[in-house]
Amino acid sequence: MTTHAEPRPRTGALVETLPASYYTDPAILEIEQKEIFAKTWQYVGTVDALAKPGDYITTTLVDTPIIVSRSRDGVHAMVNVCRHRFSEVASGCGNTRAFKCPYHAWTYGLDGTLVGAPRSEQIDDFDKSQLPLTKLPVAVWGPLVFVSLDPQVGAFQDWIGPVEASLRAANVKLESLTMRKRTTFDIAGNWKIVAENYLECYHCLVAHPNYSRTFDTSALGYTFATDAHTFISNTAPQDRVLHDAAAAPYKAEGPIGVNQNDYVWPNFAPMTWPGQNNLLIYSFRPTAVDHTIGYFDYFFDPDVDPDVERDFMAFLDEVGAEDVPLIESVQRGMASGLIDTGRLVPDENQIEHFQKLTKDAIHGSSAR
Ligand code: FES
Ligand SMILES: [Fe+2]
Repeated sequence: MTTHAEPRPRTGALVETLPASYYTDPAILEIEQKEIFAKTWQYVGTVDALAKPGDYITTTLVDTPIIVSRSRDGVHAMVNVCRHRFSEVASGCGNTRAFKCPYHAWTYGLDGTLVGAPRSEQIDDFDKSQLPLTKLPVAVWGPLVFVSLDPQVGAFQDWIGPVEASLRAANVKLESLTMRKRTTFDIAGNWKIVAENYLECYHCLVAHPNYSRTFDTSALGYTFATDAHTFISNTAPQDRVLHDAAAAPYKAEGPIGVNQNDYVWPNFAPMTWPGQNNLLIYSFRPTAVDHTIGYFDYFFDPDVDPDVERDFMAFLDEVGAEDVPLIESVQRGMASGLIDTGRLVPDENQIEHFQKLTKDAIHGSSAR
């Protein structure tokens, strides 16, 4: 795996896409939830929210409520389900000394250990050590926190490693970044259309005029490489635009010189852009077979000029918003039920790889 994708000629034949039913059949989403989203690393929140001992956040992964907390020993992830009779133990986010279940007050420490239960001293054989909240694999990466519902999930560093190398080669310093803003995209489309839209730039010249004016989105300007779960893409700025104060969408002076658009299957897309230290995380989750919630989370160093941040985020929010109607139109086309498969051109061979990983997972033969 190289950290910078090399340009390569994209020639070859048309390739059939996955059938439309994979994007419209709720039974497929049910399998994907179990075989993909419950078995991979998922981005759940930021380290900023877990800065001090006692800080915690709650969220839901697939259908499982989870808690992520910080104790003096580090960051913990647990299933947010009481070992007494299944109530959720915590809600929202904040800072606490312990998690007291609102139903009958069984109380758990920040690492999930059961520390108290009313009247437990009257109960024979009540061994608190046997009833902790169920622990989950957790990983901290720069300013981000990841959790997996699968105790057997592979090592986090193996999953993120090639993308981390690509971002570091682009001069991103993960350690000093903090989150500034979340932009939410409510998309009436299947999550795979969202991913596939991200994984090709064949549409950029057609659908992203400002982006294509600022970066080289031509066939050879936009490079990509795939390996296992990793997708690495980058494009260079059109210098005459990006470094012309009057024409540039934002002021791009700084140590980062490329636009890196990476991806780790199934749903994590870190990007960086020319200028000062920055990271834009695109993540998304299916909420129904034909509906996806996407997020742009913007990270910068603390000392970045607020005007630069504002212009940068406005530029990229616009690019993100341009994709939504395209995705929704594809979903309507798939739902028509009259066309079985589409065709991929050679410039879309990242999608071919994405569809292979996804199909293998659905049919139970994925090597995760
Ligand atoms: S369900 Fe939590 S204490 Fe009873
Ligand atoms: Fe796009």
